[in-house]
Amino acid sequence: MRDITLLSIFEHRITQKYVKRSGMAHAIAAAYHAFNLSKEFNVSPDLATKAAFLHDIGHYTWYRNGKWDYKLYKENDIHAIKGAERAHKLLVRLGEHPQKAKKIALAILLHTDSYLPDGNLYLDPLQKVVALADEMDEEPSGSHHYRQIEDEKARRMIVRLDQMIDNELSKNQNKFASL
Ligand SMILES: [Fe+2]
Ligand SMILES: [Fe+2]
Repeated sequence: MRDITLLSIFEHRITQKYVKRSGMAHAIAAAYHAFNLSKEFNVSPDLATKAAFLHDIGHYTWYRNGKWDYKLYKENDIHAIKGAERAHKLLVRLGEHPQKAKKIALAILLHTDSYLPDGNLYLDPLQKVVALADEMDEEPSGSHHYRQIEDEKARRMIVRLDQMIDNELSKNQNKFASL
């Protein structure tokens, strides 16, 4: 039913390189939050978990003199734009359906408004789920990006989440058929 699994995304070297940079533990926690929220908001758990897992894949490390520079980051960061593009390329390469890849990329683009001029953004339910899932795992001064998780544990959690998504999709056979 699904074109690609979270595990196939997790195992790709691009994911390993860039998601680890912004925090694998944060990405997995956000994906679990997105799974739970997807029921409440009535959106596809497949799309919600993939977008939440990849939402910070566009992060760049803002260092000055060997230290993280939060001011530099705030001024120059475009990780949501970069992440949307990077995730889209990765998903298409792995064989994701182009319409799903687009929806996931858009949710990543809009998961934060920190890089946008002031104003209100309208988020559709999938985009809202991903933004909320991120927020739910946020810690003060960005320390959620530095929480560590062992590779084996991360893999086990991804496999378990894949099973949860498959169960949910088979319970709702027709509901997300068009996605
Ligand atoms: Fe982010
Ligand atoms: Fe995040």
